[in-house]
Amino acid sequence: MTNKKSANVTWHEGRVDRARREEVFRQKGATLWFTGLSGSGKSTLAFSLEHLLTDNGYKCYVLDGDNVRHGLNSNLGFSDADREENIRRVGEVSKLFADAGMIVLSSFISPFRRDRRLVRELHAADDLPFIEVFMDTPLDICEDRDPKKLYEKARRGEIKNFTGIDSPYEVPEQSELVITPNTSPENSARLIYNYLLDQHLLAGND
Ligand code: ADX
Repeated sequence: MTNKKSANVTWHEGRVDRARREEVFRQKGATLWFTGLSGSGKSTLAFSLEHLLTDNGYKCYVLDGDNVRHGLNSNLGFSDADREENIRRVGEVSKLFADAGMIVLSSFISPFRRDRRLVRELHAADDLPFIEVFMDTPLDICEDRDPKKLYEKARRGEIKNFTGIDSPYEVPEQSELVITPNTSPENSARLIYNYLLDQHLLAGND
């Protein structure tokens, strides 16, 4: 990477390895990456799945765009460059959480294919599962919902670079899961939960 300033630092290997964490936690660390337009239902589904996993004794954590932008990424806006840096940072954080054994539920518009691919590669390089969940909710439905009234503002020109209005969203081509608005958040959460069981990421009850 060209902007690397961290010379003379050595990776410190801990004594508890991933296999041991997986055994104790009864799950494999993994990142579920929810991508889609604002209002497409990413966070609602992520929080719904968080409930389901937690109620079944699994360890998970939601990283959500609006929340992370209050802290770690409070210095970033919505230019293409800032979005790229937003996704780079939360991609790294997701990888660390996944390595720690958590099921990470990362909910970010992440409009650019290249940025999502980099996060995928980051996980692959460390042999950590990365599951992209595309919230395939058309713009007109998101705009109808407009829970934060941001589309209204964007249409009036009060917000610039709003995804779907005057900033692009690049539709994923290789998502592991695609969720459409005709499935309820509860049913979608159950569907993803079963997918995680099928992929042997959760120990199950046997
Ligand atoms: S991303 O594009 O960098 O991935 P992120 O998911 O972190 O975006 O944040 C998106 C949230 O920020 C939206 O849900 C919305 O509430 C808010 N937001 C504010 N301004 C914008 C904008 N210009 N474009 C998109 N979302 C915005």
